[in-house]
Order: sequence, then C-alpha cells, then structure tokens
Amino acid sequence: MIICQCTGTTDRDIARLREAGADSAAAIAAATGAGRNCAPCRREIVDLLARTSPAKQAAA
Ligand code: FES
Repeated sequence: MIICQCTGTTDRDIARLREAGADSAAAIAAATGAGRNCAPCRREIVDLLARTSPAKQAAA
C-alpha cells in the first residue's frame, strides 16, 4: 500500500527501513523523501513506526 503519494513510498518500504534501523519520520524522510513535500503522509508514517516498534513486537 502506498503511504506517500508524492514519492510512491509503500508500507513495505517503511517496514524494510524500520528493520534496518530507521526509527523516526525524519529517518524515513531522509531515506525516501516521504513526508518532505506536502507531508499529509507524515502522520501515517509516525503511526506505522509506532505499530512496528520493537517494543510493540515484543509485547505481541
Ligand atoms: S504525500 Fe508524502 S510528501 Fe506528499
């Protein structure tokens, strides 16, 4: 699913970056550009990172 319409960044892209250590919207933006242009996707990126945080994964 595309999260950022401007860059075509998908939830899979973000998950892959999350696994590689990207732990903030700024880190995702640095890697993909998502959230830098018009930024309505930024909230979704933050929520996605929160849902896939290592602490959440450990609790599941
Ligand atoms: S939709 Fe992500 S920067 Fe525009």
